Formats: sequence, structure tokens, C-alpha cells
Amino acid sequence: MRRNLVDHHGRIIDYLRISITDLCNFRCVYCRPPQGVKLVPHSDILRYEEILRIASAAGNLGIRKVRVTGGEPLVRRGVLDFISRLTSEIGFEDVALTTNGSRLSEMAMGLSQAGLRRVNISLDTLRRDSFVAITGTDELEKVLRGIDSCFEVGFDPIKLNVVLLKGVNEADIPEFAKLTLSKPIDVRFIERMPFGVDMPPADSPDSFSALDAIKIVERAFGNLTPTERSRQDGPARMYKIDGAQGRIGVIDPVTGHFCATCNRLRLTARGSLRPCLLSPTEIDMKSFLRALPDDEQIEMYIRTAVLAKPASRFSSIKKINIGMNSIGG
Ligand code: 5AD
Ligand code: SF4
Repeated sequence: MRRNLVDHHGRIIDYLRISITDLCNFRCVYCRPPQGVKLVPHSDILRYEEILRIASAAGNLGIRKVRVTGGEPLVRRGVLDFISRLTSEIGFEDVALTTNGSRLSEMAMGLSQAGLRRVNISLDTLRRDSFVAITGTDELEKVLRGIDSCFEVGFDPIKLNVVLLKGVNEADIPEFAKLTLSKPIDVRFIERMPFGVDMPPADSPDSFSALDAIKIVERAFGNLTPTERSRQDGPARMYKIDGAQGRIGVIDPVTGHFCATCNRLRLTARGSLRPCLLSPTEIDMKSFLRALPDDEQIEMYIRTAVLAKPASRFSSIKKINIGMNSIGG
């Protein structure tokens, strides 16, 4: 019989996001924490063996879907082998990846062979100059080639995550929406959470909301039709332009309230379970794993993390003093 993990608020927790590294080859403005990204000694990062042990226990308890994230997961050595162990050794049927896309052109085939079926690519602009300004690198072409490689190897779904940046990527919104006309791709506009250095707080008057993005798309392409909700869509609300192959979605962590349907736990690269993205509570798995690893205890800690999930986030998101790279976006 399959087991379920249920939290104190009646939510079934069946999704584990695993950050395998804090490191990233990009330096996105909205991701860096105010104190800068601290380099973590290698020994502080969980070994793949250790992650697999936690993932396996989580699978026994009722986690059905895992997502590999970072930092940038594709910069960690051995990631292909790690993913194939998640899919074949532990047998997770749904293994996904979130990546900045910079290594996909060379790795998409290997990822597919490792059993990966779906991928989310973070891309905030289609213009070279603003790509450089946002990420600190000049790799737009490479990311675009990476997206093509994802279509070639047949990942499904392929999702683009676009963080809404006031005064930076408004002009890109219709261009992103246009991609859905001819390609079966999900483009998701995400409200910026206030993680980065020198970024205005999320509730400042110049914030860029999901609703603003929808208005921009509707002005260019006419009314959007909501599509039926599916579990695969997570917190996104999905829409379609008439006759389009792909879909457009919005994720509104700042103006919206989707905690009621939260189904996830996070494992950080430094080996803590994090019950909620926006709460500082963490459960240190690493010290315990390295001291006296015991499978039953691992399960107990996972249950503890599930029961520590808050009902919802605090009333508003103001400033968050950590970077997304260290929590696993
Ligand atoms: N607000 C919203 N999304 C963010 N991400 C990183 N930092 C933020 C932020 N401050 C997103 C990335 C990527 C995923 C890993 O998290 O764009 O899609
Ligand atoms: Fe790297 Fe993603 Fe952070 Fe950009 S948002 S710096 S790609 S981890």
C-alpha cells in the first residue's frame, strides 16, 4: 500500500525539492542575498549518497515527485549519475530539474538517458543586453540552444520561468507569450520575491505583479482563457492564447495566497530539510546522518519536517535575508 505524508493542515506532502549545490555560474540580481553568496566548504555539502538516502526514505513515506535544483544543479559533477539513481535505483517516476539552461545544449541527451522527463528553465529576457545585465553573463545564445536541445530529446513538459522585473523585462513579456503560439511550451511569469541585493522590497509601489503581466499579454494577444487546474501545474494558474500550442502561467508568491495547496518539502545543499520557503525553520539532517544514520530515524526527521510546515506564510513578504540559491528555487 502506498503511504501518504499529511501535515497538520491536512495537506498531502508528496513533492521533495533537492538542492544539490549553492553554486551557480550566473549571478542573477534578484537571487543574491544581501550579505553575498558565501562559499560553503565541500564537506558541508551533502554527498550524493547522503541525499539518496534521504530521498529513498522520503519515497517510502509517500514522496512521489522530486525536483533537482540549486544554485545551478548542472554545475555539480556527477549530476547525471545522481539523477539516474533517483529514477532507476529509488524508482521515482517523476523526476524534474530546474536549471538556468546554460549547460543544457551539451547535457540534455545525457539527462534524458538518466531518466529525466521534464525540465524548467529560468530565463527572464530574450534580449542579449538585458540578459547580461540580469545574469552577469553573456550566455543567452547558449541558453536558447539548450531549450532547442530539450525539444530535440523530447522533454515534456518544458517550462520557462520568467521572473517579473519592473523596468527591465516588460518588453519581453509579449515575446515570451509569442513563443507559446508555435511551441508546446509553458511560459510562467513569476513575481519577484525580495531576495536579492539592492532590489526594492516586493511591496514597493513599483512592484510588477502577475496581474500586470497578464494585462500586457492580453493587450498584445487578446483575452487569455484559463485552462483546467492540474497537479502538475503546482502553484501556477495557467492560461492559453487562442489557438496556441503552449500555455502561459502566472505564479504570484507576493500578491497571491497559494499556501493552502502547498505540497512540498525542500532539502538544502547543506543538508537541512526546510518545511517552508519563507520560514527560517530548518531541520538539520546532515549532522544526524553523519553521526548515527538509521533509516527509521531518517523517516522520523522527515515526518517532523512535514509537521513543522506552517499553515501559511506571514502576511506579507518584505525582505528575506537569504538567497534563493541556498534554498533551492
Ligand atoms: N523571486 C522569484 N523567483 C526567483 N528565483 C530565484 N530568485 C527568485 C526571486 N527572488 C527563481 C529563478 C528560477 C528558480 C530557481 O527560482 O528564476 O526560476
Ligand atoms: Fe543562478 Fe538561478 Fe540564482 Fe540566477 S536565479 S543566480 S541562475 S541560482
